[in-house]
Amino acid sequence: MLIEPASHICTRYDRQRKHDADGAKINRTRKQTRAAPSRAFLEIDLALDRPVKVFSLHISGLSVGLQPEYPVKRGSQDLLISCLSNGSDRATTRAVSEQNDAKIGSIVSLSADVVDVVCEKMPPLRRALRTEAGVILEVHQHLNDTRLRAIALDRTAGLRRGMPVYDTGDTLRIPVSESVLGRAVDLLGRPLDGKPPLVSTESRPIFAPAIPLNAAQPSNQILETGIKVIDLLAPFARGGKTGLFGGAGVGKTVLMNEFMNAVVSLHAGISVFAGVGERIREGHELWQEMTESGLMSTTALVYGQMDEPPGVRFRVAMTALTYAEYLRDTLHKEVLFLVDNMFRFVQAGSEISGLLGRMPATVGYQPTLMGEVAEIEERVLSSRAGAITSVQTVYVPADDLTDPAVEALLQHLDTVVILSRAQAADGIYPAVDALQSSSRLLDAAVVGQRHYEIAKAVREHLARYRELRDIIAMLGLEELGEIDRHIVQRARKLQRYLSQPFNVTAHLTGITGATVRLEDTLRDCEDFLAGKFDSVSESDCYMRGMMPR
Ligand SMILES: Nc1ncnc2c1ncn2[C@@H]1O[C@H](COP(=O)(O)OP(=O)(O)OP(=O)(O)O)[C@@H](O)[C@H]1O
Ligand SMILES: [Mg+2]
Repeated sequence: MLIEPASHICTRYDRQRKHDADGAKINRTRKQTRAAPSRAFLEIDLALDRPVKVFSLHISGLSVGLQPEYPVKRGSQDLLISCLSNGSDRATTRAVSEQNDAKIGSIVSLSADVVDVVCEKMPPLRRALRTEAGVILEVHQHLNDTRLRAIALDRTAGLRRGMPVYDTGDTLRIPVSESVLGRAVDLLGRPLDGKPPLVSTESRPIFAPAIPLNAAQPSNQILETGIKVIDLLAPFARGGKTGLFGGAGVGKTVLMNEFMNAVVSLHAGISVFAGVGERIREGHELWQEMTESGLMSTTALVYGQMDEPPGVRFRVAMTALTYAEYLRDTLHKEVLFLVDNMFRFVQAGSEISGLLGRMPATVGYQPTLMGEVAEIEERVLSSRAGAITSVQTVYVPADDLTDPAVEALLQHLDTVVILSRAQAADGIYPAVDALQSSSRLLDAAVVGQRHYEIAKAVREHLARYRELRDIIAMLGLEELGEIDRHIVQRARKLQRYLSQPFNVTAHLTGITGATVRLEDTLRDCEDFLAGKFDSVSESDCYMRGMMPR
């Protein structure tokens, strides 16, 4: 156990080992601290022989510097630490070993991430259990009157048959606090950045009902991103949900990172990023990028990447969402909730379904697919207290948009950005498919008549060009009528104009990133459509910000 007071407070330790009334060993550390102007005590009682659920630390009359520097650990088991100021000059720390934490049974069977437990009293479904080794389990099935099947929310190394299992008395709870901003944490809210754990006064369950319909605020405002093709054709909804869909390697992560960089700095908001089942390297790079650009202090990173077991990948987005909801409700600020990659959440659900022996449904996915997706998507809502704007990347298996996982996610979103492999192959980045991407907000009543008309005309030009592509390939451009020739020439220039160098890829492309205001994009597109840039070469329209005037 390590509790370090701030250096400016004098400390005296005396350690004694005792037995409490039920015979459990108590390791008591008493630190007497002196902080000007008042004296205060800090007492720590830690019941070492049973799992401890709530650890409350009441500190008052002391400088805020007196925070546990961490970890109060028992094996790998972390304790929730809460610091409360109670207005007296006495600071007391007490470990509360709850009745619910009593032993309920022991492990009888272990297979990969599936753990069977025989219990004297069955805990309800979704209850979080804790093994003696500190591994958290989530109850998924009741096999008979005494046997339950749980999925491990951690690596199962170290578990063995016969190991005692304790009931935590609730679904999985995580410590929540504003101090999560600037930090990288895991599914259980434990630090991944080598810093002390979150000091929190509160914990929240990761499962929560969506806010009631009458408290939800619909989004009818666009969120400018500075990315031309998105602002023009598929504007993001402020307080709404956006999906970035694409097959492997078409630029989903790059687009998400550019959006994060642009929007977090532009709107000075708060962001919570969930890394779900993606590359560990990408998580590390994002953390470095955010730290270097100075945006980390308003960002929380929650990772359950591809090296984690399915239980972690399945629940980590819920943890991140719980942090986003907490920050929305307490700071009353706009929160960006970013997920890379939502498909991995569905995939983890499918793995769990297989481990539990459920019959697969359509195309091998879990029969519970729609409900699982809805459970998380319906929670991403804006309330009167604050808005949650969500951007999620979705991997499209085999570039097939009719995949059941993709379809299940598509129906929840306000804006759908489809990234096209053909466009990426032509080097037109961001590879946004202008014809397939759409937004609920691209409506004259929301974006205004002018924006709506320009977007419609740009789409019509690109659609006509696509129709004529085969004819051009066979017969050549000269065989087209004059009107079609103009449309094709302008469409090709518009297609190149809608490419854009990104700040996050400047080191790859060698071109400095550009951000373009919506107003400038509209004016440039208007001029392209009116033929003002007919004499400009296609290469002069490619990978640039706004057109020179
Ligand atoms: N806007 C861009 N500008 C330049 N290059 C890009 C851009 N977007 C993507 N790329 C190139 O494509 C590669 C893959 O991009 P990214 O990692 O974003 O793909 P992804 O869709 O997230 O892939 P995965 O499904 O494997 O996660 C990048 O490493 C980069 O080389
Ligand atoms: Mg990616």
